[in-house]
Amino acid sequence: MRQWWLLICAPAARARWVDWQSAGAVPDDETAASANTKLLNTLLATSPARTTLFIPNRTFWLAGGVEAIGVAPSLTLQLEGTLRFVPGRKGWPVHYQCDRWHNPLQPPSGKSCVKEAFFIANTSSLTLTSNGTGTLHGGGDAWWGYIQYALHGEDRPRLLSILNVTDVLLERWNFRQSAYWTFTARDVARVEIGECTIDNRVNSADDHGLLNLAAFNTDGFDVAGRDIHIHHSTVWNQDDCFTVQPMGRLGTNARCTENILIEDVNASGLGLTVGAVRPSVDHNCIRNVTFRRVKMHHTFKGIYMKSQYNDDPKATAEITNILYDRVEMDSPTQVPIWIGPAQEADSAHACSLFWPELPFSQCPPPPSSLHWTNITLRDVNIRSPKESPGVVYGNPDQPMKNVVFENVVVSNPGERPWGSQFYKCTGVHGATKGVTSPVPPCFDATRPLDVPNSL
Ligand SMILES: *[C@@H]1O[C@H](CO)[C@@H](O)[C@H](O)[C@H]1NC(C)=O
Ligand SMILES: *[C@@H]1O[C@H](CO)[C@@H](O)[C@H](O)[C@H]1NC(C)=O
Ligand SMILES: *[C@@H]1O[C@H](CO)[C@@H](O)[C@H](O)[C@H]1NC(C)=O
Ligand SMILES: *[C@@H]1O[C@H](CO)[C@@H](O)[C@H](O)[C@H]1NC(C)=O
Ligand SMILES: *[C@@H]1O[C@H](CO)[C@@H](O)[C@H](O)[C@H]1NC(C)=O
Ligand SMILES: *[C@@H]1O[C@H](CO)[C@@H](O)[C@H](O)[C@H]1NC(C)=O
Ligand SMILES: *[C@@H]1O[C@H](CO)[C@@H](O)[C@H](O)[C@H]1NC(C)=O
Repeated sequence: MRQWWLLICAPAARARWVDWQSAGAVPDDETAASANTKLLNTLLATSPARTTLFIPNRTFWLAGGVEAIGVAPSLTLQLEGTLRFVPGRKGWPVHYQCDRWHNPLQPPSGKSCVKEAFFIANTSSLTLTSNGTGTLHGGGDAWWGYIQYALHGEDRPRLLSILNVTDVLLERWNFRQSAYWTFTARDVARVEIGECTIDNRVNSADDHGLLNLAAFNTDGFDVAGRDIHIHHSTVWNQDDCFTVQPMGRLGTNARCTENILIEDVNASGLGLTVGAVRPSVDHNCIRNVTFRRVKMHHTFKGIYMKSQYNDDPKATAEITNILYDRVEMDSPTQVPIWIGPAQEADSAHACSLFWPELPFSQCPPPPSSLHWTNITLRDVNIRSPKESPGVVYGNPDQPMKNVVFENVVVSNPGERPWGSQFYKCTGVHGATKGVTSPVPPCFDATRPLDVPNSL
């Protein structure tokens, strides 16, 4: 009896190292994509606890639908080469009925949806490491563009998607050409991401013109969960760069997205995002988030906090204790500070992408069921934005509370769309400190704050 127990447990107790090329993976051959994917899925599914899977410094093609669900804990992927996904939709694996599939990131519809490129769920102690050459390449070029968007909308694979995983370390990986969201972590706890790069560009332009923006929805790091630290990383993309997404009370590892620190990063795209937060019956929530020491070169948006709409009377939400500290932007393309309703094409009652320039375009305020409290921008320096400095737009029935701009300086701002007002400013209890210029017109430098402010 005892010997039998030893046989079962001894291998699990020892760390195991597997070289994936020695195990049969074929490098530098696109026609090997399906066989490589099958092998990778088998190795992942059958690895005992504490396995290191080593991917050498070569290019290995994959076909999409790489999955590690419920794998044994303490898996390490040491990626020294490139895992490259075959381009385009043709032949990409799908779930025939999306709603039968337990991924809350994908739409609950009876229709088919593409599988994520690489999906990891239901495990713990996950290490994704590299010496610096490790690259995940999504072949995004083949999925992007206005025509593809018109035909398929957001039915595109996330490059690396992580769900219900705790204790994650991701370091020195490079993400290139994601077809859709690049890195997504949902319902996670204790995650560190360091020294990673994300680069989703159509061409080498040094800004975000119409051609590059056609790489729609190529979000950078999207995280929802608790105790998350992202540092020394760079994102250049055409949608939200570093994004903190809400969690409601039904989460497993987090019942609110909280304790998030994002520091020493560079970002250019749709910005440093909190949200979008849509009120929900389980109280969507984001609390205690700090972004600090961020450089934003030719970004499109910069500081971006956004709400979505829900008219369910039982739905509630909060955005609480958010700090942006030492953020530098040079020549942002659009409005550099946006705190208000999400400006997007595809959600109910959204703020129009053409607001306020296009006559009759709509931009309803955030829902009053969302509470915004304690939002601080400190030492924010914005040079020559092409448009007006910003939007601070709450619901007059439920104003944003304790919004503080301390040393927020916008030099040489564009004229449009708010001219000498500089900001769209309403539904806010705001105050300024230090040298803030220009002052959002509805802020009051002398107004007593709603709460004692020790920030
Ligand atoms: C990986 O391979 C590339 C191209 O073959 C080479 O330039 C690079 O030095 C290699 N890196 C390492 C760490 O071996
Ligand atoms: C994770 O495990 C739970 C419980 O076994 C299961 O219901 C869920 O479908 C799993 N998640 C995925 C993505 O398979
Ligand atoms: C989360 O993953 C764990 C395994 O790490 C599993 O036991 C649990 O059922 C999963 N929960 C959900 C909601 O998928
Ligand atoms: C990774 O870097 C470490 C430290 O520089 C070195 O010891 C190790 O050999 C490298 N491994 C690979 C696979 O390049
Ligand atoms: C960010 O860009 C600056 C140059 O503006 C550079 O010095 C710094 O190393 C970059 N940081 C990262 C994490 O790449
Ligand atoms: C807020 O988050 C930071 C991590 O960024 C953490 O150190 C701190 O303890 C958190 N504060 C509270 C009140 O939980
Ligand atoms: C807002 O900040 C103040 C001062 O730091 C603090 O006392 C208060 O608890 C915060 N409000 C919330 C809802 O956390």
